[in-house]
Amino acid sequence: MMISEVYLVLFSALLSVCSGATATIPIKRTTVRFKFDDFKLYNEHVGAFQRFVVCVSHLSKGSVYGSQLTLPQVGHQHPLSRHDGQSTFYHILYTGSIAIGTPPQPFRASIDLSWSDTFVPSVECLQDLVSGCRGQNTYNSSLSTTYRPNKTVTSLAYGGLSTLGYLSQDVLRVGGLEIVDQQFEEVTLWRSMYWNAAPLDSALGLARLQSRTPASNASTKSALRSMLDQKVLSRPVFSLRLPRRDNESGELALGYSPSGFLVQSAVTLPLIEATAPEDLSQLSYYISSGYTVELQSVAIQSSLRNNPGGKKTSTYKAVFTNSFSYISFPGPLFTEIQTHLHPNVGLDDALADLDCSMRDDLPNIMFSFGKNAVIVLTPWDYLTEVLDVEKGMRCVLPFASLPQADDEWVVLGSAFMEGMYTAFDLEKSEVSLSMSRQ
Ligand SMILES: *[C@@H]1O[C@H](CO)[C@@H](O)[C@H](O)[C@H]1NC(C)=O
Ligand SMILES: *[C@@H]1O[C@H](CO)[C@@H](O)[C@H](O)[C@H]1NC(C)=O
Ligand SMILES: *[C@@H]1O[C@H](CO)[C@@H](O)[C@H](O)[C@H]1NC(C)=O
Ligand SMILES: *[C@@H]1O[C@H](CO)[C@@H](O)[C@H](O)[C@H]1NC(C)=O
Repeated sequence: MMISEVYLVLFSALLSVCSGATATIPIKRTTVRFKFDDFKLYNEHVGAFQRFVVCVSHLSKGSVYGSQLTLPQVGHQHPLSRHDGQSTFYHILYTGSIAIGTPPQPFRASIDLSWSDTFVPSVECLQDLVSGCRGQNTYNSSLSTTYRPNKTVTSLAYGGLSTLGYLSQDVLRVGGLEIVDQQFEEVTLWRSMYWNAAPLDSALGLARLQSRTPASNASTKSALRSMLDQKVLSRPVFSLRLPRRDNESGELALGYSPSGFLVQSAVTLPLIEATAPEDLSQLSYYISSGYTVELQSVAIQSSLRNNPGGKKTSTYKAVFTNSFSYISFPGPLFTEIQTHLHPNVGLDDALADLDCSMRDDLPNIMFSFGKNAVIVLTPWDYLTEVLDVEKGMRCVLPFASLPQADDEWVVLGSAFMEGMYTAFDLEKSEVSLSMSRQ
């Protein structure tokens, strides 16, 4: 009797350390393709909600500016002036399964390092053509025993979505983890420029800090923040492996680092506290979520060409995000990189989808974070593979330049993170990067 009691105590002690405190969520990649004209149509029908889908760089009076693809502002100097309305753009979505309520109601959520607010289409969501929730999973609070009403009216703009709804609270379920009383927006008006081409009902926010998003006023805790505050995870760590292709699977590991990752040589960098500019720009949004590191230099790896980027000793701040599909440099650095890439690549080719045979000719790019902390991306790493219904497999040249005042910010978007393990340790306040090459 005594012995079995001891075993029981031991067993439950072990359980409390190991049980339910970690989760692994498979990540699916979806390339959303749209034409410039579709975008125009979207803006005309539902207003200028879209702010985060695509940034295109363009040349104006000798300097390079990033420009968001929001039609009213771009006018005659529009970066796409050399293209026609049929120009194609790509946005890469990374989604995984979550559920809300008791019993669980399932949703497909965008897994997003920079985002905070949770939202799901409500069963009350309008079903009309332009702004409907047709094809979405919906949440019916009457079916959940753990639902708690709040009813504060809120609105959100997320990627190609804009919403209107109200706050509710319920249990959020992520791969077996239970986050109680998660506040989320129940969406009653759902406007999407994806036209149901994207498998998206919700977002799983991984922001470390409350991210500041223009056109959103829900200001709820990110799912990650709730997990940390409720001590749901066995350790305050998570790692992301974003797939490189739509037919490959990635993974979000919560509460642990996958063991395969540990044996590979990794570069470990301290996260630094960085204050986002007061403005509500796209860049400030990425910075505010709390994943910034120092970056000493970016250079083209080449023995043949004169390489001005390589001689600089300027220090940048680099922010990780998979909300942004590309890599953004300050204007001068962008110009250097883009003009030294290849004799046939010009400044206008930012975000152009090239023939993938270009990969054989383009140079490697070196990101030096510190003395022994260098990440070298080959064209196979940094070009973003997309499958185009007309042109087949294409490779997008991912370099852009988001507008910024002081030329110090680099945005390491999905084009940088894809194919890499990025492990965030929020106890030690550091991020480890390791290439996951086959
Ligand atoms: C939500 O669930 C309740 C309880 O089963 C049901 O009566 C109601 O019809 C559902 N609402 C909708 C809009 O389907
Ligand atoms: C709804 O949530 C907000 C934000 O957390 C809170 O300030 C407010 O008191 C809540 N209202 C109700 C009715 O629960
Ligand atoms: C959020 O914005 C919507 C739409 O403008 C507005 O109706 C709502 O009252 C706002 N909510 C808060 C909490 O500010
Ligand atoms: C995935 O698609 C690529 C082309 O985009 C192809 O080369 C590869 O064989 C596919 N892999 C699988 C597992 O289907």
